[in-house]
Amino acid sequence: MRLPRKHENTKHENSCWCFLDFVVSWRIVPRTEGWEGWDEYAPFYDWENARTLGRRDVPFWRRLAASADGTVLELGCGTGRVSLPLARAGLPIVGVDRSEAMLALARKRSAKNGRRARALEFVRADIRALPFADRSFAMALAPYGLLQSLLTDRDLAATLASVARVLRPGATFGIDLVPDVPRWREYRNRVQLRGPTSDGGRLTLIESVRQDRRRRLTTFEQRYVKRRRGRIDERAFQLTFRTLTVRQVTARLEAAGFAVEAALGDYRGRPWDERADVWIILARRT
Ligand SMILES: C[S@@+](CC[C@H](N)C(=O)[O-])C[C@H]1O[C@@H](n2cnc3c(N)ncnc32)[C@H](O)[C@@H]1O
Repeated sequence: MRLPRKHENTKHENSCWCFLDFVVSWRIVPRTEGWEGWDEYAPFYDWENARTLGRRDVPFWRRLAASADGTVLELGCGTGRVSLPLARAGLPIVGVDRSEAMLALARKRSAKNGRRARALEFVRADIRALPFADRSFAMALAPYGLLQSLLTDRDLAATLASVARVLRPGATFGIDLVPDVPRWREYRNRVQLRGPTSDGGRLTLIESVRQDRRRRLTTFEQRYVKRRRGRIDERAFQLTFRTLTVRQVTARLEAAGFAVEAALGDYRGRPWDERADVWIILARRT
């Protein structure tokens, strides 16, 4: 994504602008599929999140998952940032993701955990058509803006129907939306992050942002430049997100057979309001 709450949009305003317009003359065109770009992002995902998001949402998901009476499904589990600590706490988890590159990292981290995370399984699949039997799960989680990777109403409806099908009646569906994505100003080629890598290199993230307000889409073009032992390696990719309001998501959940039980504005349980920088929705499968 990155999903931008990880960086303050104004933080770099007077600092490291990087004008490379002479090098790049493209216009960012939003992706038509929200799952695109994640394979390319995978090698950088944990590096970036360690500097920005960290793990501040993990205790919340752990507490919620601990209240489930059975296996928990994490939608869009990525590199296992959430699934792994939950599994380490002894909770049975299935993580599903469409990106093989993200899942490969999750599996590698899981292997390092050995027996501590035995009841953990990673499955490659699209959340719009989950490959599980009806009523298989006691809870579903969609952390960190996962539903914002669904770029059309049709994709969102297919996903909610799919989740409703695999959940038992009464099961909780926990959703975390990242509300500030549409508020980001557009810019081009801004240096957003710099830092060392674990293999002795240095990584720079250069980013451009474009808003399509009519379609509620935000597209991030990211270029990661790695310098190590005199070698320069550059990777570029795009990620697009669609941000609906809490009311809009609530209406779609209700249409799919969920009852919204709570809207929270932080990970400590404060009630949601328009200005909250985290939007958490807890819905029950009816
Ligand atoms: C924001 S990351 C979240 C990863 C992880 N849950 C976390 O909190 O760090 C979103 C993940 O959703 C996955 N994803 C996006 N669209 C998807 C789809 N249609 N089906 C399955 N996975 C999808 C991406 O591959 C990516 O790994």
